[in-house]
Amino acid sequence: MNVLIIGSGGREHALAWKIKQSPVLGRLHCLPGSAAIAELACCPEIAQDDFEKIRAYCVSERIDLVVVGPEAPLAKGITDFLSAKGIKVFGPSQKGAMLEASKQFAKEFMDRNSIPTGAFSILYSASFAREKILENKKYPVVIKADGLAAGKGVRICASQAEALDAVSDFMEKRIFGASGSKVVLEEFLAGREASVMALVDGESALLLPVSRDHKRLLDGNAGPNTGGMGAVCPVAIDPQDMEIIRTEVLQRFLDGLKKERIPFCGVIFAGLIFTPDGPKVLEFNVRFGDPETQAIMPVIQSDLLPLLYACAEGRLAGKEIELAGKVCASVVIASEGYPDNPKKGRPITGLYDPAPGVYVFHSGTVKKDDSYITAGGRVLSVTACGVNLAQAREKAYAAAEEIKFEGMQYRKDIGL
Ligand code: GLY
Repeated sequence: MNVLIIGSGGREHALAWKIKQSPVLGRLHCLPGSAAIAELACCPEIAQDDFEKIRAYCVSERIDLVVVGPEAPLAKGITDFLSAKGIKVFGPSQKGAMLEASKQFAKEFMDRNSIPTGAFSILYSASFAREKILENKKYPVVIKADGLAAGKGVRICASQAEALDAVSDFMEKRIFGASGSKVVLEEFLAGREASVMALVDGESALLLPVSRDHKRLLDGNAGPNTGGMGAVCPVAIDPQDMEIIRTEVLQRFLDGLKKERIPFCGVIFAGLIFTPDGPKVLEFNVRFGDPETQAIMPVIQSDLLPLLYACAEGRLAGKEIELAGKVCASVVIASEGYPDNPKKGRPITGLYDPAPGVYVFHSGTVKKDDSYITAGGRVLSVTACGVNLAQAREKAYAAAEEIKFEGMQYRKDIGL
């Protein structure tokens, strides 16, 4: 089976690494890919939003399955475009991708389908938003830009002044462009968080092992929000909470898809928070998480490729996933200045010959004169498996210490 992965980051590197191990794989392709992914896959120079060129590539390379990594091409309708030309895609339709691309759509979908989530209202203009904020007496409060904002469109506002600033930034200064044309004002929920992902074929869902991201830049969950500074997998979930996740989140999600005729083949990723009133959905994403995927892939024993293909063919019912019985920790090494102003172009040393059970997935690197240099905010996900979390952490941090580049930063408390 010939496979094309769309994307270029650490998530796609981890997916490529896992799919590469499949006995049913023919040739693996990834576009645009990266220098590191090119060690596993053929990476043509085609942009991920050039759907016509992607279609032509799929035909010429006899691609059997396209696996879409990031949300942007999904929100632009890559699945609808390629499916209409008879190409099988693992990734939801444009309408399904609205669950991530519009916070309003997601919250209203949850509301219509009785999926547990925080109370919210939709604010369509800056003047209405200001009025609502002046009426609000309870802080903190959450303000979310409606559209995609590269993970930066959510502000937890501790005071009225911060909430008014968020409205001004999102709705008037338009720091995220049209994504801030409306905002969601949402109840703040406190508790531990977890990332629950499931493969979905529109009818059935197959849960992946639960993971946990660490979103803040600094140890102790301090500093600004980032795309994610590290993840661990699997994470133990209270059985009662797990039952609620299955029945009130996943089953109601599937029922909602059917009722609302939303074609959805891909990953549903529920960002959950465990409150005293039970688990609630903070947000939906319609793709694999990053850096969660880097910690999930090594703990899956099953061949992933037939499962992704079964989703694309609507044959997921009855499929199971076998775990490797290991625990995985993935530590993100980021550039100096990340997340606001990452410095790029710094030579990286210590990347080669990781110990057994250690994998270095590249999020933002390029090759210069046969050596890797930094090329993004999040640079590497140093991932290790162990018999328990303590061993996985020890191995991941030992490997991270070998890697050096000027200004590198990483959290020391991933998994604690
Ligand atoms: N780690 C969070 C995300 O992928 O959106």
